[in-house]
Amino acid sequence: MDDKQLMEDRQSVREFKRRTIPDEDLNEIREFFAGTKRLVPDIRTELKIYTDPDMKNRLEGVAGYRGLAFGAPVYLVVFSEDVDNYLFNAGYIGEQLCLKLTDMEIDHCWLTVHDIDATRRALLTESELEPAVILAAGYGKAVSGKQRLDIETPSMLKYNKREDHVAPKIAQDDMVYSGTWGTPMDWSESAVDPLLDEALYAASLAPSFLNRQPYRYIVLSDSVVLCVKQEEITTIADTALDVGATMYNFDTIYAHRNSGKNKWILAIPENADTMNVPSDYSIAGYYPIG
Ligand SMILES: Cc1cc2nc3c(=O)[nH]c(=O)nc-3n(C[C@H](O)[C@H](O)[C@H](O)COP(=O)(O)O)c2cc1C
Repeated sequence: MDDKQLMEDRQSVREFKRRTIPDEDLNEIREFFAGTKRLVPDIRTELKIYTDPDMKNRLEGVAGYRGLAFGAPVYLVVFSEDVDNYLFNAGYIGEQLCLKLTDMEIDHCWLTVHDIDATRRALLTESELEPAVILAAGYGKAVSGKQRLDIETPSMLKYNKREDHVAPKIAQDDMVYSGTWGTPMDWSESAVDPLLDEALYAASLAPSFLNRQPYRYIVLSDSVVLCVKQEEITTIADTALDVGATMYNFDTIYAHRNSGKNKWILAIPENADTMNVPSDYSIAGYYPIG
């Protein structure tokens, strides 16, 4: 399946059958992980796949919104060295795993880590690497009517019937500005490069903590700037993972033109002052275009 289709099809699934994932598929995931693209290539990471039946009991109450770990048959955990930008990098890898699982028709859901020490104990690990991404995985139960998680705060979880598969996301129009903060983009084909349009659409489909999508893009003539808001409701770690996931989607679609030559630069651009970014947003990085 092509990248865009995978991004559209990816969705969080939170109810699993008991059936586990076959070993050959787990091996395929391990091999895939070894070849995943990295935002920061020299950060040491490791994937551990947990299939022991007790794992769901150990994680319950520890990881996930309100400690809900969904009793999945398999958990994938990306451990990472704790160095600069490691959570951006982990989010970038996490989204690749989500898309790979989607391609393999394996259902999954990201689980937030709010207590690192308790999570380490649940994962029975003494590794010096930090558990950065946890995905519950397996085969989703058929639900009566399609469902969507309605989430405003972790304590206000509700399942609602919904019309389509993809959790509602803010429109690309509201997520992307032209030149300065708040200035709408002209999306007509003569005004915007169609590939850039697709890459920004892909960026808007990424998973995020509580579906908050705490980021906005500003398109300049030679780069795209990613601004992020650290909301009170979200940990710094989850915000950074969200950023890594949206960066991956953008990068992957845009790379169709330049075969990966351009990359995210995790720094503040020199012209940052000209964009009127409000004080509750900071710049996570920029991506040269053209
Ligand atoms: C960093 C991160 C942490 C998340 N933590 C949880 C979680 O603990 N429990 C959960 O049910 N979903 C979790 N999610 C999934 C989001 O709720 C989900 O991506 C969002 O609601 C959008 O829905 P979608 O993935 O179906 O597009 C997390 C997603 C991200 C990126």
